[in-house]
Amino acid sequence: MAGSMLVLPSYRPPRLTDMTSPSGRGRAVNLTTHRLSLRELSSADLPALSMILTDPIAMAAYEGAFSAGEVMEWLERQQERYARDGFGLWAVTLRETDEMIGQCGITVQRIDDGEVIEVGYLFQRAQWHRGYALEAASACRDWAFSTLAIDDLYAKVRSTNVASMNVAIRLGMTVRRTFTTRYRGVDMPHLAFSLSRSQWERRARATPTIDV
Ligand SMILES: CC(C)(COP(=O)(O)OP(=O)(O)OC[C@H]1O[C@@H](n2cnc3c(N)ncnc32)[C@H](O)[C@@H]1OP(=O)(O)O)[C@@H](O)C(=O)NCCC(=O)NCCS
Repeated sequence: MAGSMLVLPSYRPPRLTDMTSPSGRGRAVNLTTHRLSLRELSSADLPALSMILTDPIAMAAYEGAFSAGEVMEWLERQQERYARDGFGLWAVTLRETDEMIGQCGITVQRIDDGEVIEVGYLFQRAQWHRGYALEAASACRDWAFSTLAIDDLYAKVRSTNVASMNVAIRLGMTVRRTFTTRYRGVDMPHLAFSLSRSQWERRARATPTIDV
């Protein structure tokens, strides 16, 4: 129709807010999206964290449910990451109720012999298929490129994890290579998804309106 405009759903970066860390370590990351807040995990999150990490279905890509000890180690690993790197997997809460429904964040990971910066995501099964992983991971992706001097952001996805692949694809990522990782005594074929800074910039600049 000449002269009329079709408005496509527009890309909107999330609102990013720095807050002073309760630990006094400097500034803790706090991200806000339309429905979600992301903040550092603390021991108060252990019950919600256990609900995710002890669920054998949610943990299929990690070769099964974690024990209580493994849940505690997981939390401690994130807290070490906050202190060392300034980022890690963060708690995702619903803004409306403050309920913690998942984890999403940025971590340093190994792929073969190299280190990469990865976006990771794990949500309570009751909350799947509501767009929360994509919403939270988009905020983390934008935080990573806005804050860190990285050329590429990765997602390591086990070759059987279709849900995770689809999140990576919807983040704008494509498969760069395959690799195998050994975890809990099992060799796991993986796909290395990634998005480059120039792809991210093009995506963020994309004009959401077209003439038809
Ligand atoms: C992977 C995971 C985080 C997805 O969470 P989610 O909140 O359900 O994902 P979203 O609702 O944001 O969906 C994002 C996209 O993935 C797709 N998707 C989600 N779950 C899917 C599934 N089981 N199979 C196929 N596609 C799926 C959605 O359709 C959506 O794509 P679309 O917008 O084109 O329709 C969730 O399944 C999970 O926590 N899994 C267990 C932990 C895990 O494996 N994490 C990844 C480790 S690499």
